[in-house]
Amino acid sequence: MAIEPLIDAGTIARRVAELGEAITRDFEGHDVIIVPVLKGSYVFAADLARQIDLDVGVDFLAVRSYGDSQESSGVVQITSDLSHPIEGKHVILVEDIVDTGLTVSYLRQNLVTRHPASLKIAALLHKPSRTRVPVDIDYLGFTVEDVFIVGYGLDHAQKFRNLPYLAVVTDDDP
Ligand code: IMP
Ligand code: MG
Repeated sequence: MAIEPLIDAGTIARRVAELGEAITRDFEGHDVIIVPVLKGSYVFAADLARQIDLDVGVDFLAVRSYGDSQESSGVVQITSDLSHPIEGKHVILVEDIVDTGLTVSYLRQNLVTRHPASLKIAALLHKPSRTRVPVDIDYLGFTVEDVFIVGYGLDHAQKFRNLPYLAVVTDDDP
């Protein structure tokens, strides 16, 4: 499989710092809980958390929507839930990429029923050309074309998560 660099580590770092500054400004005087959606967002979330100058709690959600293929099944299953209630908390859901929007819209609906004080969405990447359910992304890193992206936490069949930059899969042959 071939990959081609798309967004380098320095560019990602600068953008993540901007998102952290925006969150810090927006939530001044409050604590926030960031909720990375595993596994894809673990790298982004770790970097973002360190750019937020507030008291930041972290709790994790794991979902399954893809298997090892590149197409969304449209079915989202929470495979590991939050460990604590979020009632009355300022929650920021952290996603690697919003593709069809199915995952984030499902998770938003689910989390709202738990009555957080507020619920915002941070996503490193957005592929608007693939939208099936429109999603309001409050803190967005980059908009990308309809290509399959790996690196910086994102995988293809569990590979490439540890690349320090974002890349495009250019050739899907084994
Ligand atoms: P959605 O439900 O279609 O918005 O898909 C969301 C999830 O699909 C993301 O959190 C990723 O785990 C996965 N995904 C979608 N597009 C890509 C991609 O280009 N590279 C890697 N994972 C992707
Ligand atoms: Mg994901």
